[in-house]
Formats: sequence, structure tokens, C-alpha cells
Amino acid sequence: MIRVDNLRMNYRSGGETVAAAQDVCLNIEQGQFYTLLGPSGCGKTTTIRCVAGLEEPDQGEITVGDDLVFSSKQGTWIPPHRRNIGMVFQSYAIWPHMSVFENVAFPLLNDGKRMPHDEVRKRVHSALELVKLESYANRPAPHLSGGQQQRLALARALVAEPRVLLLDEPLSNLDAKLREEMRIELRDLSKRLNVTTLFVTHEQLEALSMSDVVAVMKDGRIVQSGTPAEIYNQPRSAFVAQFIGRTNILTAQVKERTADGSQLLVQTSIGLLRSAACERDDSGDNVIIAIRPEDVELVAPAEPHGENVFGGQVERLLFLGECIEAHVHIGPQAFTLRLHPSQVPSAGDSLRVRLPPERCRALPAGS
Ligand SMILES: Nc1ncnc2c1ncn2[C@@H]1O[C@H](COP(=O)(O)OP(=O)(O)OP(=O)(O)O)[C@@H](O)[C@H]1O
Ligand SMILES: [Mg+2]
Repeated sequence: MIRVDNLRMNYRSGGETVAAAQDVCLNIEQGQFYTLLGPSGCGKTTTIRCVAGLEEPDQGEITVGDDLVFSSKQGTWIPPHRRNIGMVFQSYAIWPHMSVFENVAFPLLNDGKRMPHDEVRKRVHSALELVKLESYANRPAPHLSGGQQQRLALARALVAEPRVLLLDEPLSNLDAKLREEMRIELRDLSKRLNVTTLFVTHEQLEALSMSDVVAVMKDGRIVQSGTPAEIYNQPRSAFVAQFIGRTNILTAQVKERTADGSQLLVQTSIGLLRSAACERDDSGDNVIIAIRPEDVELVAPAEPHGENVFGGQVERLLFLGECIEAHVHIGPQAFTLRLHPSQVPSAGDSLRVRLPPERCRALPAGS
């Protein structure tokens, strides 16, 4: 497991202080695949480097397995090589002058423990087997493909049988197809070895498809964490709703609340709209309404005009293969819809859409 409490890390650069991590808390259970997701510069690498011991934080506590490895209060500091951590960086940092075997053996031969050579050979072979590179042991490392080099970096991180694996954007140098394959391999491997994994990415699809838990970061802070489905279906701010997937956003004023607080009637630029309330977060008079493109429904011409139904005009159609993305104007508001190819209107068509109230989420204004 990994536990991080109130981590704070400021960089000092040219007389300026950058608050790279602010009150970051993580609670990662044994064997969990946990992802830090956020835009460039939000503090993901800083956080993972603090866990690895490559940065010394200003404040907080970090526990890896049963060991307290950093505590500002108690003055505890365990150096990186004694934290029993395997790490893969964005640039794999493979040694180009070494063979595949020598790259993987390196951490075992350089940890000061003088492991017998037979044991080194056995461990390297089983690490290479894990990542399906056993037949490449003698090849010079630069003579591997990108995906194979990626797996080599992973074998090197796993060879010392670490209790936790730290992965900082390890798939970002791969092409789309290979990245998709490696996502599955990486998650399977992490689960098979039951190794606690902290993964960093700015790709929402990677985070959603691989993780048990996703923590979304913004400006050095974790703004929401939960299962991929929770993060996608129940974002608690416009930032999370827009960063994870596509979202249509409307600013709105609250007119009425149902007695049980579960729904709101709001005034928007396209008219009156009924929306689901978002727990405690919509208590103000001004809110933001978020609805996903795949949740906007087309209304058949014969259907009567009902609640949350609006007329619009198709501006543009984008063919995406498995679906069509339609850009539609409803009054002054631009909307994106995802339609099945069989439903496709033409550019310039008038149509009616329904925004199902239960799929509209009211979020705090300014979030
Ligand atoms: N050595 C440093 N000195 C000063 N500022 C730094 C240093 N390293 C990082 N920063 C700043 O700290 C903030 C967080 O950086 P960090 O590398 O953790 O971001 P990130 O989320 O990993 O971004 P990316 O997705 O681009 O890798 C940024 O504003 C960055 O400019
Ligand atoms: Mg980074």
C-alpha cells in the first residue's frame, strides 16, 4: 500500500516559488491500480517523485508498505534505493550500451547486496518472461521496437520484486495501437503480481480504462477521486466534467428546487430546463449545467413537444467511424451530440433534441 498525508512541495526557481503539490492525500490499498490524472503542470510528476524519494517534500508523511519513508514532523527520510520501489519514467531511461539482459540485471548488481550470479540470471529471466521478452535477452537494447523498450523498462522495474510500482506516463511515446495493447498488458501484469501501482497520465481514456481509482489533480491539488465510473458519471465540478470526456456546459440560474432536493428547475440561455441536483454542491443561485454529448437524445418529428425539448439546427457533422459527432446550435448555445451512424441528419437540418433531466447535472458555478 501507499499512503500520502498532506504532502506539500514547493519548488524555488529564479526567486519565484511554485506550489507544485498542495495538501495531497492518497490512500492506495495493497494491489490497487491508482491513477493520478490531470493537465500538464498540475503536479503529477512532483507527487510520484516524492513517493519515490527523488524529491524531498516540504511537508507531509509518506508510507510505503509498512514503512514510514518520509515525515516532516518526525524528521524521517528513507533514501530511494531503500524504499523497495520499481519505477518507469516517461523516457524509459534504457542504457543504450547494454544488452536487454544487462539492462534488467543492472538494479540487482548495483544495490550493494552482491546477489549470486545464478540468482541474478534466474530473476532476470523471470522478469523478461513476465513482459514476454525472454527470447531477446542478448540483443542490444537500442535494437528493440518502442513497445519492446517499454516492456524492457517494465522488466527492469519489476526485477527486484518491488512492493510498489510507480509509472510516470510510461505509454506516452508509443503509437495509438501499441498504447492500447500496452494498457491491457500493464493492468494485467499489475493485477497478476498483485503489486500496488501508482500510475500518472494526462490521458483520460488511459485513466478510465486501467484504474481501480482515479484522482484528478488541478493546480497541485486533488480535486476529486473515485472509481472511473464515479469520476465520469458524477463529476463534482465543471473542471472534472470537462477534463474527463466531452461535456456540454450551460450557465444557469436556479428558479425552483423539488422538496426532496433531487431536482432543480433552472433558467438557461436556451430556456427553462429541469436538471438533477448534484448532492450538496449546488446550493447557490447560480449553477452550471453539464450534459454529455452521448446523453443528448434526438426527438422524432412526430413526438409531442415535452419538457427539456429544444429546437436547433445542425451546423457540422464529423464522421468518427463508430459514431457521428453533430455540432448543433440551440438558440445562442453550441451543443455537441454523439449519434449512431443510422440516425444521421444533414448539415443545415432543423431538429429537436431532448436533454434528459436525470442526465443533466447541476454543478457549482465557477467550478
Ligand atoms: N525543478 C523544478 N523547479 C521549478 N519548478 C518546477 C520544477 N519541476 C516542476 N516544476 C513546476 O511544478 C509544477 C508541477 O510540475 P510537474 O512536473 O509535477 O507537473 P506534471 O503534472 O507532471 O505535468 P506534465 O503532465 O507536463 O508532465 C509546474 O508548474 C512546473 O513548472
Ligand atoms: Mg509529468
